[in-house]
Formats: sequence, structure tokens, C-alpha cells
Amino acid sequence: MALESKIKTIFWEVNEADAPSTLPGEAARGFSRMVDQTLLPYEYKYVDIKTGDAMYDAIQTMIVRGAPAIGVAGAHGVALYAQEISDKAELLKKCDYLESSRPTAVNLRWAIEQQRGVIKSGGTPEEILTALRENAIKLQEEDIAINKKIGDFGAAVVPKGATILTHCNAGALATVGYGTALGVVRSAFANDPTVQVFADETRPRQQGARITTLELVMDGIPVTLITDGMCSYFMKKGMIDLVVVGADRIAANGDAANKIGTYTVAIAAKYHNIPFYVAAPLSTVDASIKSGEQIPIEERSHEEVTHINGKIVCAPEVNVINPGFDVTPAELITGIITEKGIFQPSEITSSMAL
Ligand code: MRU
Repeated sequence: MALESKIKTIFWEVNEADAPSTLPGEAARGFSRMVDQTLLPYEYKYVDIKTGDAMYDAIQTMIVRGAPAIGVAGAHGVALYAQEISDKAELLKKCDYLESSRPTAVNLRWAIEQQRGVIKSGGTPEEILTALRENAIKLQEEDIAINKKIGDFGAAVVPKGATILTHCNAGALATVGYGTALGVVRSAFANDPTVQVFADETRPRQQGARITTLELVMDGIPVTLITDGMCSYFMKKGMIDLVVVGADRIAANGDAANKIGTYTVAIAAKYHNIPFYVAAPLSTVDASIKSGEQIPIEERSHEEVTHINGKIVCAPEVNVINPGFDVTPAELITGIITEKGIFQPSEITSSMAL
């Protein structure tokens, strides 16, 4: 059963007067409207992204973040570029540029690849623009439907009264709405209001503290915030019944990349015999790579580690490394919850053909 989220993370707005265009004709112009996630939890504000270059920046600076949300943002971005550029070869170059905005989440590549197909299939610039816009809206709408299916399949493995631990934010704000890991929480909570969540803070960018707690509080789902190092403590005390996290890329063998710190949670869950599930749409599966070894891991700015809220929290000269993601080996994953059902990690590529 679906419990609607109040949050609409990203959507295409048609506004012919407001959107810049150098192309003639009647195809509806538009722009992408999204929650500016860099401002959370202080401000819940929409920002309008009106050009392809602005979309590149929005993805890179994490105004929009979370694998499925940046996939949709990428599709919107190609439609925005098509409002500015009529030359197909030029537009295809912009697809490559947009795809380079964040390297780990494969949903971005997947969505842009679909838009490349639209560009290559031909037509006048106006026809291509219309088709790109329609495809972007289709991907946006499908995302919510897919998340609700993930939620409903996942709810079946949540025990009555369970406490679910999650890491980072794989919620409505990481998707178009509803969420993957938090989609499972929403569907489980709709069936059983005694379900609750423990949310890891998720250093360095604190998506758990800033975003997961905010969206669960907004939707009235009980949530307790803990810091990343506390998970084993609560597991040992028997206070966590299962772990559900999202993913940014799943390799053919079921290894899954997600926010840095997820691997640590998975090891702790294995040690304490707690089921560890990954919830993700099949667009997160990269069947072209055999294992997690081949997943590119984004290295982010050192300031994310050295500073909190603009203030330095360490010796300024200290060495820093800041990988944004880690890879949880398939052997630590109990199951992968998708829109087609729950699969063993080793079954994930065959599930795509179902
Ligand atoms: O760096 P972020 O905030 O984009 O990382 C997000 C995550 O790691 C999510 O868990 C993942 O993208 C899945 S979102 C449904």
C-alpha cells in the first residue's frame, strides 16, 4: 500500500514565456523545477533550472542529488539544451558533458542514453525538442510508479513493529517522489504504523540528518537520528531489525555502490545477523561491468570533510581524502528490492529480462 509523500522533488514546468529558446516553432518550452537540497533543512525552496549549463551545475553542486533524481535531471537537462541548440552533433556533445557532472550514479548515464536515442532517431529540431521533453516527463512520471512498486515488494520483508536502519537519503528527495529505501519504509508504515526508522547522520554531507529526517518528519513517520559510528552499538542491543539502503550503481555480480559508510553498515549487519537490503530501480543496474571493482567512485571536495557549516573543524594543514561512495560486496546483501520483485544479488541481471 502506498503512503503518499508530500514532497515533489523535481518536475518539468511548461512556461513558454519564461523559458529561453532560440528555436522557432510551437513546441512547448519549459524548465525544470526542483527542491534546492543544498538549503535543507533550513529552507524548503524550489529553484527553476532554465538552461542546460545550469542543469550541469545543479547536478554537480548537489542542488539535486540521489541516483534516480539525477537521472531525471539529466533527461530534463538534455531537453533544456535542445531549447538552445538545434544542431544534432552539438546536442550530442552536450549529452556527454551533462553525463560527466557526477560519475558514480549510473541512472544519469541511463537517462541521458535514452535522450541520445531520441536525438539520433531524427526529425526537425522542433520535433526532437518535443520528443526530448516528452521523454523527460515520461521518465519523471515512471520514477514514482517504480518507487511505489519497490516499496510494496520491500514492505513484505519488514517484520511487524520493525526498526529499519537506513544510511544517506534514498527517499522522495533522492527520486522524483516516494523513494526507494524510504519507499519501502513508506509502504511498510502504511500497513503497520508501529514501524520506525533509525537514520544515520551520513557524514560528510549529512544527507541522513539534513534530508532523511526532514522528509520522514514531514510525512509523520517516526525517525531517530544517530551518528554513523553508532550503528553497531544499536545492532548489538537488538534495536535494529533490518537495514534498507539505496544504490547508485549495481554491478552484474550484485556488488552495490552507495553513499560512503554503507559498506561499514553492511559489515556490522552481517556480524549481528541482521538482514541488509538494497532497494533500487533496475535502471541502477550496470550490466556492462562484472563487479564493483569497476564502479567509478566520485572524489569530492576536501572542504566537505574539513568544514561543517562553513567552519573548519580540523588542523588546516591536515591531509584529506573524500570518496563519495563505497561498494558493498554482494555477499553482504540479503536481497535487492526492485520494481520487479526481490532478487538475490547474483540474479540481478537475469531479473532485468523478466
Ligand atoms: O551523493 P548523493 O546524495 O547523491 O548520494 C545519494 C545516495 O548515495 C543514495 O543512497 C543513492 O543515490 C540512492 S537514492 C534512491
